Amino acid sequence: MTTPRSETLAKLTPVLTKRWLSPDAWQLNTYEKLDGYAALRKALKAHPDDLIQLIKDSGLRGRGGAGFPTGLKWGFIPQGDGKPHYLVVNADEGEPGTCKDLPLMTHDPHALVEGVIIASYAIRASRAYIYIRGEAVHAARRLRNAVREAEAKGYLGRNILGSGFDLELVVHSGAGAYICGEETALLDSLEGFRGQPRLRPPFPATHGLYASPTVVNNVGTIASVPPIVLGGADWWKTMGTEKSSGPMIYSLSGRIANPGQFECSMGVTLRELIELAGGMQPGHQLRFWTPGGSSTPLLTAEHLDVPLDFEGVAAAGSILGTTATQIFSDQDCPVYATYRWLEFYHHESCGKCTPCREGNYWMVRVYRRILAGLGTHEDLDTLLDTCDNILGRSFCGLGDGATSSVTSSLKYFKQDYLDYIEGRTAPKLSEKTLVGA
Ligand code: NAI
Ligand code: SF4
Repeated sequence: MTTPRSETLAKLTPVLTKRWLSPDAWQLNTYEKLDGYAALRKALKAHPDDLIQLIKDSGLRGRGGAGFPTGLKWGFIPQGDGKPHYLVVNADEGEPGTCKDLPLMTHDPHALVEGVIIASYAIRASRAYIYIRGEAVHAARRLRNAVREAEAKGYLGRNILGSGFDLELVVHSGAGAYICGEETALLDSLEGFRGQPRLRPPFPATHGLYASPTVVNNVGTIASVPPIVLGGADWWKTMGTEKSSGPMIYSLSGRIANPGQFECSMGVTLRELIELAGGMQPGHQLRFWTPGGSSTPLLTAEHLDVPLDFEGVAAAGSILGTTATQIFSDQDCPVYATYRWLEFYHHESCGKCTPCREGNYWMVRVYRRILAGLGTHEDLDTLLDTCDNILGRSFCGLGDGATSSVTSSLKYFKQDYLDYIEGRTAPKLSEKTLVGA
């Protein structure tokens, strides 16, 4: 393990993570002592449209993976339409390797609650939901506790802080389906239906929860709102890059000395993040990694200096996604890693559309054959052809995401596939796994 140099340590920009290590930061009195609800008091004195403009000016982009401009999304909500408006926080963090929202909600739940109140005020919503993964029991308890504390103190409920603004906030636990992180499947699930994606457009901004205008934002996006209200758009833009402003929580996992969450200005590189994490584990050399979870194309050791912002990662041929960097070494097999991810997508496919439902099923079978030492050269063409029939032809992003590691591992590590097919690498799976594949 190496000690980070001081100039690397200076890359840390704790904004959303700044309270995480304070004892009992999840309790209201601690939160209030650490700037808590000061942004709400300030926001309630402003006109809602000015708050939307502030978020536009800050350049804040969605932290759930897609990076859509947040202020623009808020601005889509039609005003004076006579319909109820909703804010729904997508806390169904499920992308493999992604672990930034869960610690935020566990350590600092009031930061999210305060963000929800400000965002709801801005879009004129009087009811908001936090849809959290069913497995995240501890974080859900912390959130529900925070909601109760906020209600008791007049930050939630009727006539918040005497402003005349009313808001009810409901914490809703899902049932553990990855697809319910897709925003329209989440809305269906919240309405009590089986969680399956809806056709977009229309987007939730006009036809969302109960067919009403709805903003769906990620946890990190909403938790960014109070610091922007307090610090201002110009301060926010002192961090990050021109088109990807602000700080971002990067979750690091895999073959590194200290896995965890590191909040840095957007545009930090993996080389710097690995140094912050104390280096690679002894005896391991970086071989491949995901910049934003398993739905994003793999990158390699050649990409250590790629700026981890939306544009930088796209220029390198991948996607920033959820900034979940899973780090693999020379002792890991890209073929096997891809197979494990495909098993996940195959399992989590909701079955609504044929390319994803059938394509992932068949690709898992092909991978099992290759890893059992029974693959053929034609299998590689079959994989690429199947990906071609999934990508852009699936009903939602799950199908597209499933192809990312297949095509990128074949691009960078074809030799590893050939080594299984031509018998140079010992089979990793037994032939028994082919039965019922
Ligand atoms: P998207 O780019 O289709 O949409 C992004 C957001 O902008 C959505 O809220 C959408 O409603 C809104 N939007 C886009 N165009 C609009 C328009 N013309 N009018 C109104 N609103 C509009 O991306 P999508 O499919 O919602 O999300 C994909 C991302 O999710 C991927 O990049 C992936 O990284 C991420 N993801 C995150 C996971 C997690 O655990 N956080 C899990 C799986 C995927
Ligand atoms: Fe369901 Fe997959 Fe189709 Fe999405 S792409 S609708 S998860 S079958």
